[in-house]
Amino acid sequence: MAGRLNGKSAIITGAGSGIGRATALLFAREGANLVIADVNETNLNSVRNEIIKTGGTVIARKTNVSSEEEIKALINLELEKFTNIDILVNNAGISGGLDTLEDQKSEEWHQVFDINVMGPVYATKHVIPHMKQHRRGSIINIASVAGLLSGAGGNAYSASKAALINFTRTSACEVGSYNIRINAICPGLIETGMTQPFFEWARSTGKENQLGKYCELKRAAHPEEVAWAILFLASDEASYITGQAIPVDGGITASMSIPGRKI
Ligand SMILES: NC(=O)c1ccc[n+]([C@@H]2O[C@H](COP(=O)([O-])OP(=O)(O)OC[C@H]3O[C@@H](n4cnc5c(N)ncnc54)[C@H](O)[C@@H]3O)[C@@H](O)[C@H]2O)c1
Repeated sequence: MAGRLNGKSAIITGAGSGIGRATALLFAREGANLVIADVNETNLNSVRNEIIKTGGTVIARKTNVSSEEEIKALINLELEKFTNIDILVNNAGISGGLDTLEDQKSEEWHQVFDINVMGPVYATKHVIPHMKQHRRGSIINIASVAGLLSGAGGNAYSASKAALINFTRTSACEVGSYNIRINAICPGLIETGMTQPFFEWARSTGKENQLGKYCELKRAAHPEEVAWAILFLASDEASYITGQAIPVDGGITASMSIPGRKI
């Protein structure tokens, strides 16, 4: 069966771990030519090696998404090697802390926004001219349920993901007439590097069965379950979908009440 991304080129940020890693492995299986990026070079190279071992085409480059210059260099690398850019997955992100606003330092807000918002802004800004030339492209921003509602992350993190969701909508409206689609995915609780300490704490205190219990499916998810949704948005199967923020959250944003205690 032909791969769903055969002949397409994609950039994936934050590909060294979690959702980005799962997406890179899936995209490679579906035939995409990949440029993968992360600040963690060791993890990044290990994902690159995994992909090469299975016959995929991939280039890895250490990149800090909060640097516009590094993003430009990443895009130039992609153009040099694969001549065009069909797909951009803005996945790199950090969670920031859980302190209350009064205890948070301004630097923390700046760091979270530099990575979670400005990273996708720089990458989108610099891929759009190339996508316009080819009159096609799909950009997927990895936001969070924390950007839709309170209660799923720290204050700065939630605000950054809300900003990313509306950036998705506004930029999608700017470039729709060029056949460029921009969407966001809003994951719920996924077991990744970011949430590992939380999962380890739950397991070590016998609270494993409480993980994800507030969503309708009553469990946390694996990164692959998010990667499948990203693949769909990246593929031509999603050709009429743009400007949307799609939760992949086991139904946690579907209800105002705690499952089992509906009024
Ligand atoms: N895990 C969850 O429950 C969850 C829920 C909602 C949204 N998300 C979002 O999913 C995305 C992926 O996170 P994950 O859960 O897979 O976590 P993760 O920590 O496993 O992966 C994030 C990757 O981003 C990289 N990264 C961090 N800062 C970077 C920077 N400045 N430049 C380049 N790379 C950088 C990290 O090194 C890491 O490899 C994030 O945007 C996160 O906010 C995760």
